[in-house]
Amino acid sequence: MQSVQFSELTILPGADRCGEKEGFDRITLRPGDTVSIVGSTGSGKSAFINDIEVLAQKDTVTGRSILINGAPPADDMVRDPAKKPIALITQNTRVIADLTVERFLALHIRARDSDAQELITRTVALANEFTGEKIDRSMRMTSISGGQTRSLLIADAIMIGQTPILLLDEVENAGIFKEKVIRCLKHYNKAVIFVTHDPLLSLITDRRIVMKRGAVVSVLEPKDAEREMITHISGIDAFLVDLREKIRAGELISDDILARDMTVIPA
Ligand SMILES: Nc1ncnc2c1ncn2[C@@H]1O[C@H](COP(=O)(O)OP(=O)(O)O)[C@@H](O)[C@H]1O
Ligand SMILES: [Mg+2]
Repeated sequence: MQSVQFSELTILPGADRCGEKEGFDRITLRPGDTVSIVGSTGSGKSAFINDIEVLAQKDTVTGRSILINGAPPADDMVRDPAKKPIALITQNTRVIADLTVERFLALHIRARDSDAQELITRTVALANEFTGEKIDRSMRMTSISGGQTRSLLIADAIMIGQTPILLLDEVENAGIFKEKVIRCLKHYNKAVIFVTHDPLLSLITDRRIVMKRGAVVSVLEPKDAEREMITHISGIDAFLVDLREKIRAGELISDDILARDMTVIPA
C-alpha cells in the first residue's frame, strides 16, 4: 500500500516554447478521473506526462509544477520510486531483466509482502484480458512482445503496485485492447492520463487536454453530442479490433463476416 493516501494531483502551468504562459490555471486529477492528451507530434504531450512522473517543481523545460494532495511532494516521494504514487508506461517500456513473468511478479510482490501465488495468477489473468497474445507465467520477460509487456505492467500496477495514478504514453498501437484497459482502470478507481492519437480513446475520457507548441491550449469536457457518438465509434472500433485479430490468426475474411459486422456502421 502507498504510505500516503492519494486524494488529488494538481498540475500548475508553465510556459510554451516561446515563453508564453499556458492556457489553464490548474488541472486537478482525482481517483477515477480519466484524461486524454491530444496534439500533433512534437506538441509536448510526452513532456507533459513526464513532468507528472518526475513530480516537476519548475525544474523541467516546461516550468510546470506538480502538487500531491495540495502540497509540493515530500522529498522521499520524489527520491524513492516505491513511494511514488505514479506508474508511467510508454511504447518503449521494456523489462530487460532476464526473468520469467512469474519471477518478475514474485519479486515485486515480495517487496510488498503479499501472498504470491494467487496474486501472480490474478495479475497474469488480468493482463490476458488486455492482450490477444496470451501471456504464460513461465515466459521470459525479455521474450514477450511489447503489447504483452505493457499489458502485464498495467495489470501489475493495478494488482500488485496498487498505484493510484497511471500515465500511458501512446500505448494503443501495440496490440492491447485499449477500451478494456480504460474500463478496468476506471473500475479500480485509478486516476489515468493517457497520450493518444486514437479517436475512441480521446472521446471516452472525462476531459481532453489539447497541446500546441509545448503548452496546454485547452481542456475540453465532452458535451452530450460527443457522448452520443461514443457507442457508435465503439462499434466501429470493436469491428476493427476483431478484424485485426482474425487476420492475425490467419483467417480468411468472408463476405458474411463483413456483412454481419458492418451492421454496426450506419450508412
Ligand atoms: N513547454 C516547453 N518548452 C520547451 N520545450 C518543450 C516544451 N514542451 C515540450 N518541449 C520539448 O519539445 C520536444 C517535443 O515534445 P514531446 O513532449 O516529445 O512531444 P510529443 O510527445 O507531443 O510528440 C521535446 O524535446 C520536449 O522536451
Ligand atoms: Mg510523445
